[in-house]
Amino acid sequence: MRRKLTLWARFCLVLALLPSQTASVAVMSVDLGSEWMKVAIVKPGVPMEIALNKESRRKTSVAVCLKENERLFGDGALGVSVKNPKFVYRHLQSLLGKKHDNPQVAVYQKRFPEHHLVTDASRGTVLFSNSEEMQYSPEELLGMVLNYSRGLAQDFAEQPIKDAVITVPAFFNQAERRAVLQAAQMAGVKVLQLINDNMAVALNYGVFRRKDINSTAQNIMFYDMGSGSTTATIVTYQTVKTKESGSQPQLQIRGLGFDRSLGGFEMELRLQDHLATLFNEQKKTKKDVRENHRAMAKLLKEAQRLKTVLSANAEYMAQVEGLLDDMDFKAKVTRVEFETLCADLFERVPGPVQEALSSAEMSLDEIEQVILVGGSTRVPKVQEVLLKAVGKEELGKNLNADEAAAMGAVYKAAALSKAFKVQPFLVIEATVFPIQVEFTREVEEDGSRSLKHKKRILFQRMTSYPMRKVITFNCYTDDFAFHINYGDLSFLGQEDLSVFGSLNLTTVQLSGVGSSFQKHTGAESKGIKAHFNMDESGMLLLDRVESVFETIVEEEESTLTKLGNTISSLFGGGSSEPNANVTEPVQVTLDSDEKEGAKSGEAKITEEAAKTEAEKKAKPQKKIKISENVAVELQVKDILNPNFEAIATSNKKCVLQDLTDRDLEKQEREKTLNSLEAFLFETQDKMYQEEYQAVVLEEEKEAIMAKLSQVSAWLDEDGYSASTKELQEKLQDLRKLSGCDTAPD
Ligand SMILES: *[C@@H]1O[C@H](CO)[C@@H](O)[C@H](O)[C@H]1NC(C)=O
Ligand SMILES: *[C@@H]1O[C@H](CO)[C@@H](O)[C@H](O)[C@H]1NC(C)=O
Ligand SMILES: *[C@@H]1O[C@H](CO)[C@@H](O)[C@H](O)[C@H]1NC(C)=O
Ligand SMILES: *[C@@H]1O[C@H](CO)[C@@H](O)[C@H](O)[C@H]1NC(C)=O
Repeated sequence: MRRKLTLWARFCLVLALLPSQTASVAVMSVDLGSEWMKVAIVKPGVPMEIALNKESRRKTSVAVCLKENERLFGDGALGVSVKNPKFVYRHLQSLLGKKHDNPQVAVYQKRFPEHHLVTDASRGTVLFSNSEEMQYSPEELLGMVLNYSRGLAQDFAEQPIKDAVITVPAFFNQAERRAVLQAAQMAGVKVLQLINDNMAVALNYGVFRRKDINSTAQNIMFYDMGSGSTTATIVTYQTVKTKESGSQPQLQIRGLGFDRSLGGFEMELRLQDHLATLFNEQKKTKKDVRENHRAMAKLLKEAQRLKTVLSANAEYMAQVEGLLDDMDFKAKVTRVEFETLCADLFERVPGPVQEALSSAEMSLDEIEQVILVGGSTRVPKVQEVLLKAVGKEELGKNLNADEAAAMGAVYKAAALSKAFKVQPFLVIEATVFPIQVEFTREVEEDGSRSLKHKKRILFQRMTSYPMRKVITFNCYTDDFAFHINYGDLSFLGQEDLSVFGSLNLTTVQLSGVGSSFQKHTGAESKGIKAHFNMDESGMLLLDRVESVFETIVEEEESTLTKLGNTISSLFGGGSSEPNANVTEPVQVTLDSDEKEGAKSGEAKITEEAAKTEAEKKAKPQKKIKISENVAVELQVKDILNPNFEAIATSNKKCVLQDLTDRDLEKQEREKTLNSLEAFLFETQDKMYQEEYQAVVLEEEKEAIMAKLSQVSAWLDEDGYSASTKELQEKLQDLRKLSGCDTAPD
């Protein structure tokens, strides 16, 4: 009770509900990893909390099983992935925003040979193809998972939830981020913001250490090794003075290093391969176990357990019942062997640290602490190599490595939701991939005209965001096009560069420039201004493009007040009428970047000049800014969005599925099937546990094992079409035989 109160008190400091709100206002976060997701919610009266899933677990597998009329998620899908891997879609993250010829697609196909990947002819991306009618894009499948995650959050919050903050890896580029947004759109989840997972972790860390943050900057490195990738992030914490609310804590991302493919999953695949070799060497059957998808799925599951156990033990007996042709498999694997299998992976551990330091232009001495995040940092060798690389006395393990990102993201969701009042914590992101604008203009040199290709950096690497920027083109009087491309990515290795995809983002074709010049022949052109916004989600948007002119009109009377008004409307945004929808969210707001800063300097000069002229002349002059909207046509150069018809049909697919989902009989059957599968797996596991072996007689054990394999084989063949009643009977039988009247825990 005491502990509860303290927690509650701490929570009240962080978060207070606005009194006027009572209805369904809960918001959620999804920390979307490549293998697992964690869902957190906040609702009135309940602090930020991890939403437990249907199995009362704190993390849920990112997996969906689609088979005829069945759709399973979470543990249910994982269960099938061992029995019938081809119906289960997992590790979708590496396919998001990728063309079919991306090396990551080939890697995926190699890892999951049971899936048939085809090219989406219209977008150049990949589809999972089960049959002509059953083709699913990675975005659609992720959409189903996100919809499921919302279901979990709603069940836990006991109220409907629409709004979510979703994490993405910090190294996700524009196409990859868009893919997550599209998945959410298909699921009908309103994304308040995408948040980089490292930012979510850093925010969680900062929010609960407010009192330790003062005006002295503190640099912390978060080293996050997950299942699919690894990042190292340098974050600076300090308090800053703000105009509105005095001194506030702030965190700024200063450096980032990443390894897109270094993670626990690759270690498990190495172990899986090792186990396959051992099994083949045992020559229990003539078949090659690698040819059998189901057997390989079983080995992968065992490899996952092996990795976990070897983090705490020096050796372990891997075993799989009836692996292939009813042959059991048993083999000892030591931690030393594991470390040899993954030696090249461990060599890559320091890479992200070095890259983070160099991108931040910092040295290790400036880093106060290195904090571990992510499940795979539990592997002892990872910690050993990292500790050596950072030269600290110890690694920080004071963060909940699994849940910090989900908690940071839900804090952000509460802050963005109007229903909660959250103590401010300022955050500044950093651009990972520089972006530039390219255009061609005609130049005159030595009397002859030629075309020159020009580049201007829009966002440098590690520029902070969110940030608006305006680029002014001064040399055009007619319609033209410009290109938005990634800038210099030479800091990426060759391999990362090929995974990165298109270096070109968008070509922007303008129309209406020529006519604006014809309309305002007497006025002075101030250029064509393109207004960009790198928003909180790290998405680059082109808000609008305008052709700006300035003209001088003579004024009748000279009052300084009037001049003042004129000047403020000149630069106060009076000109910006709502404009063509250049990209989805059009934001007509004042720019507040360096260029606008320069402009307000200009405004001051104008004001002074106007004053002195006003004194000299009888008839003062005033400058008027004229802005003409320029129409914009965007050509996407990286990955085309799925067209709306495609989204509509995918919604239809979901709805069709839901019709069957709602069928109660089917749900009952699903539950029974899950229980039966769970019972099979867990009882098989138990048979090998020492404490169990000690109490079960050998002949009893054999009888149980025989029955288990028999039911297991039946499930593989006929079980999937069996009725609920049949399934229940099998489960009953098994429970009786193994002496459990309740399900194993
Ligand atoms: C999302 O899941 C809910 C159940 O939680 C279901 O009612 C709804 O139809 C699903 N929507 C889509 C688009 O799949
Ligand atoms: C800020 O806090 C640190 C400890 O967290 C302390 O060593 C330092 O003196 C403090 N600086 C100021 C300016 O208060
Ligand atoms: C990418 O942009 C560059 C520079 O604008 C251009 O030269 C190149 O042709 C573009 N590539 C593609 C595939 O559009
Ligand atoms: C902007 O988008 C909205 C909704 O998508 C549409 O109704 C409107 O006509 C668009 N405006 C222009 C100027 O294209």
